[in-house]
Amino acid sequence: MNIAVFASHGGSDLQAIIDGCRNDLIGAQVAAVISNNGDSMALQRGRNAGIPSYHLSTKKCGSEEQLAEELLAVLKEHDIDMIFLAGYMRMLHISVLEQYSGRIFNIHPALLPRYGGRGMYGMNVHNAVIAAGEKESGVTIHRVDAEYDSGEIVAQTTVPVMEDDTPESLAARVLEREHSFLVEVIGSIARGEIRLG
Ligand code: GRF
Repeated sequence: MNIAVFASHGGSDLQAIIDGCRNDLIGAQVAAVISNNGDSMALQRGRNAGIPSYHLSTKKCGSEEQLAEELLAVLKEHDIDMIFLAGYMRMLHISVLEQYSGRIFNIHPALLPRYGGRGMYGMNVHNAVIAAGEKESGVTIHRVDAEYDSGEIVAQTTVPVMEDDTPESLAARVLEREHSFLVEVIGSIARGEIRLG
């Protein structure tokens, strides 16, 4: 199974997927890395791993439509079976969503359907969880559709919120869990336990 990972910033989730694949824990390979951010650590991580890594953005390509065309060309060139959004801060164009329907997944650092939707990303999520006094947060992996964080949930795991947690300490605990959970869940997808398409 060929995976394309899309990431905008640090790419620690991307790294966990690359390492999981290379250590034979997943049964798939990261065949392409795509970022809308040319300076991202994610792009650097892809290049360091010797994976074809692309900086593709609306600014660079000229329009949303042209970006979608270039994305589709890269996905085709690398025979991509599945797209994983690991901290990708852009909505995908409808043509990409349609062509890879049911084959695009996103990871979200909370227990959807709560703490998701427009504006719920990065520290905003953990700030909201702490402010609400939740005893539990977690990680959600879901299919991607044309809305934010609304596609079918395929896997979830919980992470405790401690009494003295700050949004930062909670974010670190959730991110650490993401790294192992990604390996488990993408492995399930590669084994066909979670269906593509
Ligand atoms: C993760 O918290 C993930 O849940 C969210 O974006 C973050 C990516 O972190 N979608 P990193 O860039 O992989 O370190």
